Amino acid sequence: MDFTLSEEQLMIQQAARDFAQNELLPGVIERDEEQKFPKEQIKKLGELGFLGMMVDPKYGGSGLDTLSYAIAMEELSKIDASASVVVSVNNSLVCWGLEMFANEEQKQKYLTKLATGEMIGAFCLSEPEAGSDATSQKTTAIDKGDHYLLNGTKNWITNGSTAGVYLVIAQTDIEKGHKGINALIVEKGTPGFEIGPKENKLGIRGSDTHSLMFNDVKVPKENRIGEDGFGFKFAMKTLSGGRIGIAAQALGIAAGAYELALKYSKERKSFGTEICNHQAIAFKLADMHTEIEAARLLVYKAALDKDNGKNYDLSSAMAKLYASKVAMDTTVEAVQIHGGNGFVKDYHVERLMRDAKITQIYEGTSEIQKIVISRSIISK
Ligand code: CAA
Ligand code: FAD
Repeated sequence: MDFTLSEEQLMIQQAARDFAQNELLPGVIERDEEQKFPKEQIKKLGELGFLGMMVDPKYGGSGLDTLSYAIAMEELSKIDASASVVVSVNNSLVCWGLEMFANEEQKQKYLTKLATGEMIGAFCLSEPEAGSDATSQKTTAIDKGDHYLLNGTKNWITNGSTAGVYLVIAQTDIEKGHKGINALIVEKGTPGFEIGPKENKLGIRGSDTHSLMFNDVKVPKENRIGEDGFGFKFAMKTLSGGRIGIAAQALGIAAGAYELALKYSKERKSFGTEICNHQAIAFKLADMHTEIEAARLLVYKAALDKDNGKNYDLSSAMAKLYASKVAMDTTVEAVQIHGGNGFVKDYHVERLMRDAKITQIYEGTSEIQKIVISRSIISK
């Protein structure tokens, strides 16, 4: 398997790296502290084509492959995972879901704006009583002829208040179980649609996470994605690709923390030598470097599976499971290598450690990834 990056992929990597250094790094500590959404930065990312990376240029996208997207996610996440989660959700859950499964009219109406960043999107599956157990949808979308009547609550929705359009999963026919679930496009401002307060989080504090309440919201029939009852499959298929984005985010958090720790260990002295010369520190760096490389190979493999038209349910779950563990382990060790300085905000590693945790929770917890992986290997 050839993992050599093409000229174009190297250019995208450099562009994302430059953007992260020049546009995301300034103010990243303050945005985290004040829970401030990176509005200006997301606007610029849209202008540069990072919000619709894999979308066909005829819908305003950059027409790139999944590997390019994963590479960009890694670079952005080294510096600011609050910004990169917006990139991930918009690209792989919202734009990809619409490009694959929406009809032409829906694509013309929504995809072009989402791919260019004119507006951003949200993906709304989780509920107070349906997180991991995603088929237990309590939100209902009752068929009223020319429209659905939407009622219920969605939890933890990324881009909750900043999105212009929401892909909402809801139960239409309870008798049919998951085959009675639909995916609906809901516009912000539709009467009866309310946005709850912003969540005060451990990490990715700059991102915009809210509950959403739907109270007799009328959603036109033409806003349903795919056939009647396709909503759960839509969510699962979309999440398989989304997990590549979050795996790349986890990889970036790990790599960012490692780069900071390596640099610090070559500068900080104790007992008359740079701390990297103490074997205890050198071995931590060796472990970090090895694990990050292994995570990167899994992320690239999943991206290449998708680009090559292979099934990527298993490879994306493995990439997310492993990369998120590496993100957690690496950031904890990066704090340790920084000693007391690691515990204060100026050195960035404490933020990366807090940000790492979410990669083991969203888009399917690590336990859920193990369910996906084990079912796949047992059924073979
Ligand atoms: N592609 C297509 N279909 C799929 C599929 C996939 N990847 N995975 C499952 N399905 C289908 C199954 O084939 C089945 O359909 P049939 O009955 O026709 O065969 C149907 O979906 C139900 O599947 P299961 O019987 O396997 O369902 P389950 O109840 O056992 O649950 C699960 C499966 C994998 C645990 C699933 O519920 C799941 O993924 N849970 C986690 C939810 C999640 O990831 N949420 C993330 C929310 S978005 C988010 O978090 C964004 C963010 O943070 C930024
Ligand atoms: P639960 O499902 O209640 O799980 C609790 C614990 O039990 C976990 O450790 C879990 O792994 C474990 N567990 C549950 N079932 C099993 C099982 N069968 N076997 C073994 N262990 C199990 N959702 C969206 O739809 N859209 C978003 O944009 C979005 N963004 C998010 C942003 C943030 C910051 C957060 C925190 C969450 C976001 N989520 C989003 C929700 C996220 O996907 C869920 O939190 C996640 O899927 C877990 O669901 P839960 O919180 O209900 O945990």
